[in-house]
Amino acid sequence: MINQQVHKRRRAELGNQIGGNDIVIVPTSTVKSRNGDVEFRFRADSDFHYLTGFEEPDAVAVMCPGRANGEYVIFCREKDLQREMWDGRRAGLEGAIEFYGADDAFPYEDIGDILPGMMEEREKVYTNVGRYPEFDSRVLGWLNKIKLDTSSGKHAPFELVDLSHLLYEQRLIKRLDEIQVMRKAGKMSAAGHVKAMQACKPGMYEYQVQAEMECEFRKAGSHYNAYPSIVAGGENACILHYTENDRVLNDGELLLIDAGAEFQCYASDISRTFPINGKFSAEQRALYDIVLAAQHAAFAKCGVGFGWNEPHDAAVEVIAQGLLDENLLEGSLERVLESQSYTQFYMHRTGHWLGMDVHDVGDYQVEDNWRELEAGMVFTVEPGIYVNPNTTTDERWHNIGIRIEDNVLITKHGYENLTSDAPTNADDIEVVMAG
Ligand code: GLY
Ligand code: MN
Ligand code: MN
Repeated sequence: MINQQVHKRRRAELGNQIGGNDIVIVPTSTVKSRNGDVEFRFRADSDFHYLTGFEEPDAVAVMCPGRANGEYVIFCREKDLQREMWDGRRAGLEGAIEFYGADDAFPYEDIGDILPGMMEEREKVYTNVGRYPEFDSRVLGWLNKIKLDTSSGKHAPFELVDLSHLLYEQRLIKRLDEIQVMRKAGKMSAAGHVKAMQACKPGMYEYQVQAEMECEFRKAGSHYNAYPSIVAGGENACILHYTENDRVLNDGELLLIDAGAEFQCYASDISRTFPINGKFSAEQRALYDIVLAAQHAAFAKCGVGFGWNEPHDAAVEVIAQGLLDENLLEGSLERVLESQSYTQFYMHRTGHWLGMDVHDVGDYQVEDNWRELEAGMVFTVEPGIYVNPNTTTDERWHNIGIRIEDNVLITKHGYENLTSDAPTNADDIEVVMAG
């Protein structure tokens, strides 16, 4: 479970990376207008949430090692019974201390009077430079103010440093508490995909299958999807980020669904592809089995010490050979790999980091080399084949779009598939669909 103690440990870990005379300033995201006076549902900034667990807008967390009156300070909204009756509960200053472990808390409106004093005499200021330009300019304004005041004998910090490098390395390696939450996100998402397979019938609309699936996410406790669901029937599957989800599902075509629940601010990201009428055609099955074999080849390269690119290279090789075998490509395997002619059918990479963000933070290369996989890393394995009618291929392959995507945790002894509850074998899918 992710609780106050976990956030405290995360701050301590970050604190070990910075100097005892530095300061960390992390703002959260802002509320965005949707239309008229309606707002998008608020989602806390991932860095801010990772360090604090605090879920309200208009808040800034400050870590100030050695500060006599409190090292960990939250600026947030004060309690206001009138506003809370309209807009919802607020932790208030007392709540920030009691429930979120702040040593001290101040009203958000007072930040301009209090924070510059905390920044004085510090050496480096760490913040998410560039994430929130308005907040950046406030930080710069406070720095300038301190510089102008140096006649009083105080010195201004001499470095403004982007926090992301330190924090992203920390966020990249998932600890047990996060892994438990991600397992749960994976399970509820897989249950939604199974529900979609069971519910799907020719003549339904994409959004109707989407509703069946997302109902499972919501019932399991996910308030929000990790990203907008892609529910793509037939030719729509060849549009990689299709989200209109408003077409009818035709007998004889495939349905590609790429969707995942967000649970307690952690994402899952699953793709499954299945026949709308419950039975793969020969062409669909042929390409499906190539993609599945590519995913298994990639899994075989998931473990401590493999390079980040090895699962991708393994998947590409299987897809290229499969496309040659089916005469969708010509030439030798070596030539296809070298010329990358397979990219007309497989144009994306085989995975990305997964965590609080669906495309999570963390470098993929270290000093120009693909980084080695380590225990605690979580990423997707998502090979695909998409036959756009613009390609010079036999018509029988046209508009077949397939992606199979699972979420993998690297463990000491190999890997764990967090999303294996949703079947991927074509035979198993047909059994689930038959009901
Ligand atoms: N759902 C977005 C992706 O698979 O990367
Ligand atoms: Mn996906
Ligand atoms: Mn993905």
